[in-house]
Amino acid sequence: MATEKQIRKLLSKVRDPENNKNIIELGMVRNLKVNADTVSFTLAMSSLSHRFKDKIVCDAKSAVQSVDGIQAVEIFLAEMAPAEKASRQKEAGLKGEAERFNNVKHVIAIMSGKGGVGKSLVTGLLAGSLRRFGYRVGVLDADITGPSIPKMFLPEGALLDFSPKVMLPVKTRTGISVISINLFLESEDQAVIWRGPLISNTIRQFWSDVLWGDLDYLLVDLPPGTSDASLTVLQSLPMSGVVLVTSPQSLAAMVVRKAAGMIRQVGIPILGLVENMSYFVCPDTGVHHRIFGPSDSEAMARQLNMTFLGCLPIDPAVSALCDRGEIESCPGDLFDSVSQRIVKIAPAADAPKMARRAS
Ligand SMILES: Nc1ncnc2c1ncn2[C@@H]1O[C@H](COP(=O)(O)OP(=O)(O)O)[C@@H](O)[C@H]1O
Ligand SMILES: [Mg+2]
Repeated sequence: MATEKQIRKLLSKVRDPENNKNIIELGMVRNLKVNADTVSFTLAMSSLSHRFKDKIVCDAKSAVQSVDGIQAVEIFLAEMAPAEKASRQKEAGLKGEAERFNNVKHVIAIMSGKGGVGKSLVTGLLAGSLRRFGYRVGVLDADITGPSIPKMFLPEGALLDFSPKVMLPVKTRTGISVISINLFLESEDQAVIWRGPLISNTIRQFWSDVLWGDLDYLLVDLPPGTSDASLTVLQSLPMSGVVLVTSPQSLAAMVVRKAAGMIRQVGIPILGLVENMSYFVCPDTGVHHRIFGPSDSEAMARQLNMTFLGCLPIDPAVSALCDRGEIESCPGDLFDSVSQRIVKIAPAADAPKMARRAS
């Protein structure tokens, strides 16, 4: 009869292709039981959506089946707890593999209390505008369950480039580096149904395991609300500040107050407030219509002691460009004054080509 030691030895030949370490040394094999002609064990994955999960399971099964007399192999899957995963990564020398090479001057999160107010649009326009000014810009899509950044910037079907130890962001047409969970999924309609800790871990990895290189601005598009994921970003990334987005509705104002409270509680500067969907310009008459009612965002910003950065109109042409992955073609006058204000508050003075447009 095969012994546990013998099985462990065989399993130590199975490697996780992501880091080329064997599954025994990675601590992935648990509850190993050898019972007559049956072997059973649990494989603890760093994530149940580990991209090499099937290969590891298949290799482990073949390794054990190669033993004479073994008729059945039962493999159960489990997910490591976040703390355990972090310590394994450290032991395996993986943590921050990319982070060491990154030099990011400013990390700026775009946040609002609720969904649909245009956070992702503001993130995209701000990125495009900063890029036009010559800055080196990255966008980290921290909305894991509702990622919308790739759709705004990239042609359909864009996927990430993997190297064995780091993730390389996808470059947009104008050279903005983008990371999003959608770049890992075969189809953009695939849903991500994860629990909070896993989402937080993924966001952390988007910071520490992505080779961002030299950036002047890394913009982080947050999910709606003041959830776990938002807190993770604010507490584990070296934030320069947060841009708040609202729309001219009293409900939106209430949630902005909430979000502002949370940001201040964790001691991060609020760079300012942008009001989206402020008005619609009638194409026939040129008249401004305040579809969601009068704006009180500027007064609210004053009240909350934050800078009012500007307003954005409702513009169907802009949303059409976003839907086609061409947000970088949006007219500059839409957002350049807002981005210039942000640059003043969080300057990246020695950006190589910044004078191109600003002079
Ligand atoms: N000012 C605007 N003009 C036209 N469409 C807009 C505007 N702001 C947002 N949208 C559209 O509304 C939808 C929601 O915006 P999005 O930026 O995804 O919101 P959030 O990230 O806050 O959930 C998107 O389809 C976007 O293109
Ligand atoms: Mg969004």
